[in-house]
Amino acid sequence: MAETLPPPPPANIESLSNSVQELSKKGYNEVPQRYIHKEVSSTGGIICASAPLLDVPSIDLSLLISPSPAGVEELKKLQSALNYCGCFQATNHGMSNIYLDKVRQLSKEFFALPMEEKQKYGRSADDLDGYGTDSVLSEHQILDWTDRLYLTISPEDKKRLEFWPENPQSLQGVLEEYVMKLKTLNEFLLKAMARSLNLEENCFLQQYGESESAAIIARFNFYPTCPRPDLTLGVKPHADASAITFLLQDREVEGLQVLKDDQWFRVPVVPYSILVNVGDQVEIMSNGIFKSPVHRVVTNSERERNTLAVFFIPGSEMEICPVEKLINEENPRMYKTIKDYVSIYFQNYQLGKRPIDAAKV
Ligand code: OGA
Ligand code: NI
Repeated sequence: MAETLPPPPPANIESLSNSVQELSKKGYNEVPQRYIHKEVSSTGGIICASAPLLDVPSIDLSLLISPSPAGVEELKKLQSALNYCGCFQATNHGMSNIYLDKVRQLSKEFFALPMEEKQKYGRSADDLDGYGTDSVLSEHQILDWTDRLYLTISPEDKKRLEFWPENPQSLQGVLEEYVMKLKTLNEFLLKAMARSLNLEENCFLQQYGESESAAIIARFNFYPTCPRPDLTLGVKPHADASAITFLLQDREVEGLQVLKDDQWFRVPVVPYSILVNVGDQVEIMSNGIFKSPVHRVVTNSERERNTLAVFFIPGSEMEICPVEKLINEENPRMYKTIKDYVSIYFQNYQLGKRPIDAAKV
C-alpha cells in the first residue's frame, strides 16, 4: 500500500545531514543522488550482493614457523593464497573469541552514541583523522554508504588524541592493545611471506622499516542499512595502500567482495578469523607475485555492519621496490622503486586511476 511506504528523500537531503547513519534512520525508500552508482544503474547491471562465494583460504598462523611437514605445507598454502586472491583468513592468531568480540563491541558502542557525542570527535573536511563520512577527494565522487572513525595510531607524533573517543571508555586502551597484537602479527607475516618465496626472511621487513616510523591506521567502518543496495556501495572498489591490512569483519553480516579475474566474489564471514590482505606495497615488494586485491563493500537493506580495518604502512622515507631475487628473465621487473606510496596513491585516486599502475615499469 502506497501510504505505508516511507517517503522519498527531499531534494535538499544532503544539507540536512551528512551522516549516513542519520540518513538511514529516516527510513526513506530511495537514496540521494550522490550515493548512486550511475554507470551501474544506467546499464541495468545492478550491484550484486549475491555474487559467488570466494573460497578464501584459511591459514593456521601457529603452523607457519613449524619446521614440520605440516608447517612446510602451511607456508606453501600462504604463498598460493596470496598469489591466488591476495587474502586469507588467519586462524590461531593468538586472540580469543571473547577478546575479538570485545574489540567489535567498541565499534558498536561508539556508533550507537548520540550524534552530538560522536561529533566531539568529528573530522574537518580536509582531514582524515576523526569521525565522519567518506572523504571527498574529487568533485564527481560518488559517496560511500558508510560512516567512519579514522585514527592514526603510529607514528606517535602523528597521533591526534583529540579524536580518540573517551566514550566508550575502554576504546583507547583496547584499541592500543589490539594494534600491539597486530603489530607482532604484521612482522611475523612479513617474515613468513618472505620465507614462503624462499627469500631471506627479513627482506620485506627491511623495506617496511623501523616500526617507529611506519604508519598504523585504524578505521572503524560502520555501514548503516541502505534502502537501495542495488545502486549504492558501502565502499567503492579500491585496493589498499598499505603493506598489509588486517580486517576484523562483522561477526554476522557479510558485505565484502573481492574482484578476481574481472568478477566480483563474496568474502565469507568466518566469525573468529582475522581477514588478512596484501596491500599495494607488498604487491610491489613481491614483484607482483602477491596480489593486492581490488575489493568493495556492498550494502544491506536489513542489517547494519561494523568492521575494523587496521592498515600497516611503511614509513614514508622507505624505498619500496621488488626484491632483487624475484627478478629474472622469465619474471621481469614489474614495478619501479617508489617512496611515500600513500601520496602517490591519493594523487592517482583523485584522478580515478588505479594507484599501483603509477608504480609500474
Ligand atoms: C577498508 C575496507 C572492508 C570492509 O576499510 O579499506 O576495504 O569490509 N573495508 O569494511
Ligand atoms: Ni580496503
